Amino acid sequence: MPLKRKKEPVTPLCSPELFKKVFFKAAQKFYAENDLDFGVDIDNKNFLGHFCRYWNRETAFEMMENISLKKGLLVFGSYGTGKTTSFRIIQNLAKHYGVKELWFPSISAQEVVDRFNMEKNKEDVIRDYSKGTFLFDDLGSETAGNNIYQYGKEDVFVRILLNRYRNFENLGTKTHITTNLSQKQIEERYGKQLADRFVEMFNLLKLDGPSRRK
Ligand SMILES: Nc1ncnc2c1ncn2[C@@H]1O[C@H](COP(=O)(O)OP(=O)(O)OP(=O)(O)O)[C@@H](O)[C@H]1O
Ligand SMILES: [Mg+2]
Repeated sequence: MPLKRKKEPVTPLCSPELFKKVFFKAAQKFYAENDLDFGVDIDNKNFLGHFCRYWNRETAFEMMENISLKKGLLVFGSYGTGKTTSFRIIQNLAKHYGVKELWFPSISAQEVVDRFNMEKNKEDVIRDYSKGTFLFDDLGSETAGNNIYQYGKEDVFVRILLNRYRNFENLGTKTHITTNLSQKQIEERYGKQLADRFVEMFNLLKLDGPSRRK
């Protein structure tokens, strides 16, 4: 029997207009620090709307858009479209305003594999990243893990994400991901079993278009 999830009523953090205003201000500041103008256009407008409503925990939007506030976000699309930066802006908001609901730790997928390769006790690494909310940045860009003593090459994320699926079901653990992989490519790399669970664990948000890297 799965453990009962604690019933906390999910309420929006603030009005939709205010959240969007605060997010956009933070985004402008973030880009200005890098000598960039925050661009909003046909390629990211829709995404930014969904992204803000998700983080503001808007229950009305949940029903309309087939989005679940219980699931994490899987943001996919081509290179340089603003996936990583969008999550970073939320992290900045969390820190700046001290909003714990907006906070999540993040790590690139390759860094997880590097730690796995370096650590003697590999099971510890798998366990550490299987618990609690996390953003795994750039899933699919990582190399396979080395575990020559036990299995040879091993796809570390298959294990971590299968564990996280179990924790999602039992405890409501959220996972967020950015990736350049399509759903088909996710299936090819990580297998059908995991790809199928992704539908349950994630709201899939597309952020596509040409690269904004300068
Ligand atoms: N809306 C935007 N307006 C202006 N610059 C942007 C915008 N979104 C992203 N950028 C800039 O484009 C570059 C790429 O952004 P980011 O790293 O977030 O892309 P990404 O989607 O994570 O790319 P990748 O898939 O390669 O990891 C960064 O320099 C970022 O500052
Ligand atoms: Mg990125």
